[in-house]
Amino acid sequence: MKIHDFRTRKGSARFTMTAGHRIAPLVAEALAEWVAATVRADDASCRLLDVACGSGTLALRLARELPDMRISGVDASPNMIAQAQERATSEGLANERLSFAPMDAQHLAFAPASFDAATCNLGFPFFAHPAEAMAEIRRVLVPGAPFWASVPDRQSWREFFEVVYEVVPDATQLLRGFMARLEQAQRLLPSLEQAGFEVTHQELLRLPFAFANGHEAVTFFNDLFSLFTTLPAPLERRLSRTLDERFPGGVATSYVALLTCARRDDAAVSVAPAEAPPSATH
Ligand SMILES: C[S@@+](CC[C@H](N)C(=O)[O-])C[C@H]1O[C@@H](n2cnc3c(N)ncnc32)[C@H](O)[C@@H]1O
Repeated sequence: MKIHDFRTRKGSARFTMTAGHRIAPLVAEALAEWVAATVRADDASCRLLDVACGSGTLALRLARELPDMRISGVDASPNMIAQAQERATSEGLANERLSFAPMDAQHLAFAPASFDAATCNLGFPFFAHPAEAMAEIRRVLVPGAPFWASVPDRQSWREFFEVVYEVVPDATQLLRGFMARLEQAQRLLPSLEQAGFEVTHQELLRLPFAFANGHEAVTFFNDLFSLFTTLPAPLERRLSRTLDERFPGGVATSYVALLTCARRDDAAVSVAPAEAPPSATH
């Protein structure tokens, strides 16, 4: 499996056409509802950082609902940032309260305590060094600030993958890299806690996800992660056929995301320095 490179024009365009179109907006919608339930609509002083903002799906959604909030979207991919800026302009949302900049989440170019809230929609599994990214997000938040994040869960597309494991002889090997991304959901909570966040709420979001037929399902995963492109053509056809037999009305499966609400926890890390040990007398 090849995770496409979000930094290239082709990779960012492929994401936007597939998961960026069918998944990210739905998960962003759920996160945005959590944000809107916490941040007052007229709170013009709230500064929010959207990390790994991609083409701006969540930041733009928030800018529509909370126009007074100051939103900064950052992403490691300049191509994603260009898409976000274009969308802001074409949707009439470009103004001085909404900004996008290319930036590595592991090295945020902001002073400590620059933001009152942060979000990260489906970015966590793609960070090369997630612990550093979490520590950086914490650093740029004010004490007690909320941080809302979503990650894909291992239950995603389970019905579809059950058939893959049945039909493809080396499915475990083939899917290893892809499944590793889905496993990241389990790592989010310990990573947050280690970085000095308190996790206040977690919830699984199950989105019905249907493909018209087996071929469409296989094509989706090829476009998204080149998942089955190394399969011999007869095996790929057999997979599509089996999916059609198993799901005569279309491949009915679901995408599952883990939504998390955390807050910068200063009690956990600003522990008073331990008293100096009594000096040794012998
Ligand atoms: C699955 S996409 C999600 C994009 C966006 N949040 C959305 O909902 O559409 C993951 C994003 O993480 C970004 N990314 C990966 N590593 C990053 C890093 N170290 N710093 C910032 N962004 C990063 C990628 O460029 C990509 O846009």
